[in-house]
Amino acid sequence: MDHINNPFSPGAGSPPPELVGRDHILEKSRILLGRARQGRSEKSLLLVGLRGVGKTVLLNEVERITRETGYYTIAVEAHENKSLAALLMPHLRQLLFELDRMKGLSSKVRRGLGVLKSFISGIKVKISDIELGIDIDPERGTADSGDLEVDLSNLFIAVAEAAVDRKTAVALLIDEIQYLSEKELSALIMAMHKMQQRKLPLVLLGAGLPILTRLAGESKSYAERLFEFPEIGPLSDLDATKALQDPVLRANVKFSADAIKEIIKLTQGYPYFIQEWGYQSWNHAEKSPISLVDVQRATKTVTQRLDANFFKVRFDRLTSREKRYLRAMAELKGTGQRSGDIANLLGVKVNSLGPIRANLINKGMIYSPTYGDVAFTVPLFDEFMIRTMPKLNLQK
Ligand SMILES: Nc1ncnc2c1ncn2[C@@H]1O[C@H](COP(=O)(O)OP(=O)(O)OP(=O)(O)O)[C@@H](O)[C@H]1O
Ligand SMILES: [Mg+2]
Repeated sequence: MDHINNPFSPGAGSPPPELVGRDHILEKSRILLGRARQGRSEKSLLLVGLRGVGKTVLLNEVERITRETGYYTIAVEAHENKSLAALLMPHLRQLLFELDRMKGLSSKVRRGLGVLKSFISGIKVKISDIELGIDIDPERGTADSGDLEVDLSNLFIAVAEAAVDRKTAVALLIDEIQYLSEKELSALIMAMHKMQQRKLPLVLLGAGLPILTRLAGESKSYAERLFEFPEIGPLSDLDATKALQDPVLRANVKFSADAIKEIIKLTQGYPYFIQEWGYQSWNHAEKSPISLVDVQRATKTVTQRLDANFFKVRFDRLTSREKRYLRAMAELKGTGQRSGDIANLLGVKVNSLGPIRANLINKGMIYSPTYGDVAFTVPLFDEFMIRTMPKLNLQK
């Protein structure tokens, strides 16, 4: 069928034709935003889920709602090699400038700018005064101690008080939040704690890999009282059916029931794979309804494409020992393989695998759902490992 009219949208962060199965999260966000704005306490939301499950598109939708609710939004994506301060600063600066431009002078906003300036001098991010363009004296002694936990809290307080003075609120949206360093995460949690204690309307909405829950808990024991960690998982059969059928129905096309069943079986309900299979099945079909045979023909193309792109980019970042570790995990199947079993399979002591396991966690390939267990962060990676390394070579 006509490729141009294909409604599916496989890709990182590409909005799906139908954002199904996430209404409860959107509702939770609305409640958080409404309450925070009135100075009522509510847990911040940190969405956790595997690769390709739809965290980014959901966070983007939350951002849209946040704006509609009259909040200022700051949306950033954490990186392995960019500091949180460097990520946030240009946005905070812009926010304060916008607040400053509003009618009437606000001493709180001016103070916010002064605190931001001293914060920058404290963390020693290299930005010249000209670039920064803040023609105001830094507020010496506030937010410039060089200790991120103290400084970030003070900066957030000043920014939130400026927002209150302008009768508005601020939402901070951070994607890939598991990439923050321990120190940064800890400072962020502490700053959000301060927001809650002082009933200030600056909220955090984040998304990251499942390891996030552990990282947050380890960094501050009160994290679980400040944050809720809704799990973003695969779609139920009903939602997956909707995700496939509704977009094509709008183009007067439909999937046959057995075609849908096959896609659900192959994708296990994972949103990114649903988009890929939906997309290729549409392209392979001659006419409506899109049949089981169309899906089966599309499967070959989808698998080749996934293997050559989605899985391969991750595979190529691995050392050969890491590959063998993951191959052994794939051999064991299931979700949550025991470290001891992996070591047995590889014929080595469990301790000797510690560094490999740590590297794989750092690379975002695996996480530890419970103590002593590891699991893949990329759905269906186990099947890929077996396709690409058919034999588990125990000799090397
Ligand atoms: N609720 C949904 N229903 C249908 N398709 C969805 C849904 N959520 C996401 N998708 C699709 O899934 C794909 C992946 O989405 P997204 O990039 O948001 O995932 P992610 O969890 O952020 O992945 P990563 O961890 O790799 O960043 C996109 O093609 C998107 O269109
Ligand atoms: Mg994402």
